[in-house]
Amino acid sequence: MAFKRFEGAEHSSVYAKYRPVWTTGITDRVLTYLQERYPAPYDHAIDVGCGSGQFTQLLAPHFKLVTGIDISANQISEAIKGNKRKNITYKMGAAECFPIADQSVELVTCVQAAHWIDMDKFYAEAYRVLKPNGCVALISYTFPEFGSHPPAKFLTKYIRDYYDKLWEASCHDEVIKHVHNRYPDEIFACRPPLEDHLRDDTKTMEHEMTVGEVVGFASSWTGSVRYLKKYSSSDILETMQKNILETLGEDATLDTVVRATFPVFILFGRKPG
Ligand SMILES: C[S@@+](CC[C@H](N)C(=O)[O-])C[C@H]1O[C@@H](n2cnc3c(N)ncnc32)[C@H](O)[C@@H]1O
Repeated sequence: MAFKRFEGAEHSSVYAKYRPVWTTGITDRVLTYLQERYPAPYDHAIDVGCGSGQFTQLLAPHFKLVTGIDISANQISEAIKGNKRKNITYKMGAAECFPIADQSVELVTCVQAAHWIDMDKFYAEAYRVLKPNGCVALISYTFPEFGSHPPAKFLTKYIRDYYDKLWEASCHDEVIKHVHNRYPDEIFACRPPLEDHLRDDTKTMEHEMTVGEVVGFASSWTGSVRYLKKYSSSDILETMQKNILETLGEDATLDTVVRATFPVFILFGRKPG
């Protein structure tokens, strides 16, 4: 049975609050790939491992119906709470066994979640539910970068140092390495009979974030939650926050805004027509 993560209600709400919002540049790229062999209009897309619905919402204008699926009851409850679209439904379900009918969707997305999932089973399910010429897209981002000049470049370093400390304390899951290795093809490329594997490593998302949001983002990692459970009196987050504020200068506060660039990668596959 698939393992349930992001189960704590508090973790789910921190996740919903601090994870970067996906941009339409990324949905447009996915729709361009789909349109190459399957022209609009579209009936149904599913977003597997939807979390609190960050990406699911962006699909809504392009499909009659969008279904977000996640194994975590708390993530689904956050998603339902934040849902402003009538054509989105959220369901509890596993990425290895979708609660979706055969040949009923044009698009399957899996955003920032494939590293938690059994890819052989996921792709078998994607093949089952896709209509001919329908597509699957795995999407993720890696570390945010804050520019190449001081003081911004030190923010990138502080985030990475914090991430490394979580490794040293054995609080990260091994699978997180796949994200930073940009989902290697040998593990994540689509399996036959899906075809037409394509990788796009060119996209980025630009976000203005307050210092408070940068620290909140780091606190939303599963490794952070584990670390703080293990060392409950640790001031590891406060230390990173202090370093960031000192680097930005004496006027800096938690509301000071910095510009973050999140590098994005996408792996595509298609069901033969
Ligand atoms: C890092 S979050 C990504 C959430 C969202 N897609 C986003 O873009 O931020 C990973 C999500 O995958 C879900 N997940 C992990 N394993 C799963 C599985 N086997 N089946 C379905 N969902 C799963 C978790 O509950 C979590 O909500």
